[in-house]
Amino acid sequence: MGLLKVSYLVTLTSVLWVVLTTLFPNIFPGYYDHGDMQDKDGYLYSAYYNSINTPSILRNNLTNSHIFLFTAHPDDESMFFTPTITELTKENYNNTFHLICLSNGGYDGLGSIRERELRKAAKVLNIDSVKVLNYVDDINVYWNVSDIVKSITDEIDDVKREYDFEENGSLILLTFDQDGVSSHPNHKSVYQAVEAYNKLISIRAYSLKSWNIIVKYSGMLFTNVEVAMKWLAKCDELQKYLRQINIHLPDYVTADTSKESIAIYSDLNGLFLNFSTMTWVHFSQIVWFRWIWIFSSKYMNSNELVPIS
Ligand SMILES: *[C@@H]1O[C@H](CO)[C@@H](O)[C@H](O)[C@H]1NC(C)=O
Ligand SMILES: *[C@@H]1O[C@H](CO)[C@@H](O)[C@H](O)[C@H]1NC(C)=O
Ligand SMILES: *[C@@H]1O[C@H](CO)[C@@H](O)[C@H](O)[C@H]1NC(C)=O
Ligand SMILES: *[C@@H]1O[C@H](CO)[C@@H](O)[C@H](O)[C@H]1NC(C)=O
Ligand SMILES: *[C@@H]1O[C@H](CO)[C@@H](O)[C@H](O)[C@H]1NC(C)=O
Repeated sequence: MGLLKVSYLVTLTSVLWVVLTTLFPNIFPGYYDHGDMQDKDGYLYSAYYNSINTPSILRNNLTNSHIFLFTAHPDDESMFFTPTITELTKENYNNTFHLICLSNGGYDGLGSIRERELRKAAKVLNIDSVKVLNYVDDINVYWNVSDIVKSITDEIDDVKREYDFEENGSLILLTFDQDGVSSHPNHKSVYQAVEAYNKLISIRAYSLKSWNIIVKYSGMLFTNVEVAMKWLAKCDELQKYLRQINIHLPDYVTADTSKESIAIYSDLNGLFLNFSTMTWVHFSQIVWFRWIWIFSSKYMNSNELVPIS
């Protein structure tokens, strides 16, 4: 009986999620102001969840940039960062996306397979360049931060040379935050190095917020609440109507919170892509508990990026 109730709840949550993230943006594209960006293809820019994500991406200038994502293991990008990658690599934003993975994830001797899987994932995710470095994958080890800072500098210099630019204004760094999503020491070391690099050379850098365990395994539950709030905040007409019947929305619904962090949400199409990178591309990593992650993790449908200062 309890199981039946849970499955009702899960079904209801999933249906609501599809309505909020995929159906609504299609039915009400007009709620989103296209500003002065060109729609190059008629799809990537104007369709779907852009109407939820694009305003804060444009406000924060996550466009026309070279974006570097620093991860620790092959499959980190697919497990944690897919909503961010699929959004920021959309052609209309004019970003170039570089993935630097610090180890080949060889802890259980599958290093070369995992490296090949990572290159396959990069193709699927529309990532422009991939580099795998040779830090040793070990869950008990903190990596040497000054070594990583040196690696970050080298990789950025390489890209500057290859794409022929000097200034640092178009650089954006992404990585884990201080808790590394799962508290993995390797993840934390990468964050510490990006933070240290950012202290040396002040450029734009963002970390992926580690949610607490309840939020982390909430699937689409909290995401639905957040996206529903976003739609409410967008709908001036609805707000006007609510005021007329004396219902006042709390400030946090209408307030612009994008200065503190940038929320990015997947829609149904993005979710399929995310599932595939994990189950199809990173096949060597699929063990039973990964399936629990796939169906219960909030990282599967959204990301929250916090500026590193
Ligand atoms: C984005 O760029 C515009 C114009 O260059 C600038 O006015 C604005 O402050 C920038 N926003 C952020 C969050 O950096
Ligand atoms: C695209 O971004 C690059 C920087 O990566 C910039 O040099 C170029 O002018 C941008 N193109 C457009 C059309 O804005
Ligand atoms: C990190 O590596 C550098 C050399 O690359 C070394 O000088 C330093 O002592 C190392 N730090 C730690 C904590 O091992
Ligand atoms: C840009 O970054 C490089 C390191 O990659 C640094 O040497 C240089 O001073 C920076 N330029 C500016 C203008 O900050
Ligand atoms: C993507 O899907 C994988 C599993 O397939 C899941 O572990 C992960 O949370 C999702 N993550 C992101 C950021 O999309």
